[in-house]
Amino acid sequence: MIEIRGVRKAYGDHTAVDGLNLEVRDGEIFGFIGPNGAGKTTTIKMTVGLLRPNAGAVLVNGIDVAADPLRAKMEMGYVPDTPDVYEKLTGMQFINFMSDAYQVPTGVRGERVRELADAFELTDALGDLIESYSHGMRQKTVLIAALVHQPRVWVLDEPLVGLDPKAAFTLKAMMRRHADGGNSVFFSTHILEVAEKLCDRVGIIVKGKLVACGTLDELRDGANETLESFFLDLIEP
Ligand SMILES: Nc1ncnc2c1ncn2[C@@H]1O[C@H](COP(=O)(O)OP(=O)(O)O)[C@@H](O)[C@H]1O
Ligand SMILES: [Mg+2]
Repeated sequence: MIEIRGVRKAYGDHTAVDGLNLEVRDGEIFGFIGPNGAGKTTTIKMTVGLLRPNAGAVLVNGIDVAADPLRAKMEMGYVPDTPDVYEKLTGMQFINFMSDAYQVPTGVRGERVRELADAFELTDALGDLIESYSHGMRQKTVLIAALVHQPRVWVLDEPLVGLDPKAAFTLKAMMRRHADGGNSVFFSTHILEVAEKLCDRVGIIVKGKLVACGTLDELRDGANETLESFFLDLIEP
């Protein structure tokens, strides 16, 4: 579970996130959508402890991210918006490095990595240098590295970008399974059809403020419209 409470973040005199409140419950996939520059990535970085809010707090499974960052980070698997990885490592070396950071016991590591790498069809490339990887392969590497410590809370910033259709399908199925197991998935996306099909609830952020939040039925409020038309009406009334 993620509780974002009155969080604000300014870069200089530009307020990127402005008093945001939202909750990602256990057992749900929560989609975070909004125009470019709305504040999604800033919110996500505050959630995972990469940025410190100017005001407010984020709790992950009840742990205050600013007060107890290491313990909070152990609860989370985070995939950043760009898969920046160490080019001079092999995929396997990078995954091992991340597994060390998250203290994944070596005894269970092999099996977990094998399962994830098989699911994403990356097994054969794990021994190659990351500099030779395509964008999609880097994205898969980052995903595997983020999930190998089996975090209960997944925080994914535009995780489908660059994935081929099969890998995207695999990831969406994994997200569903993870949430159905009683865990939380918080992800941002530009693909409204994905949000519409996959999410239990969505939040829409515009200029740093949450302007709508709820299940799709709640957002539609009886109207028979797609998330796309709701979203476009909302941002360009
Ligand atoms: N490191 C930074 N320094 C200054 N401004 C930033 C920085 N990161 C983001 N911003 C600004 O903050 C706003 C929100 O950005 P961001 O959180 O990346 O939005 P989104 O992920 O929704 O596209 C934008 O106006 C962006 O230009
Ligand atoms: Mg972003």
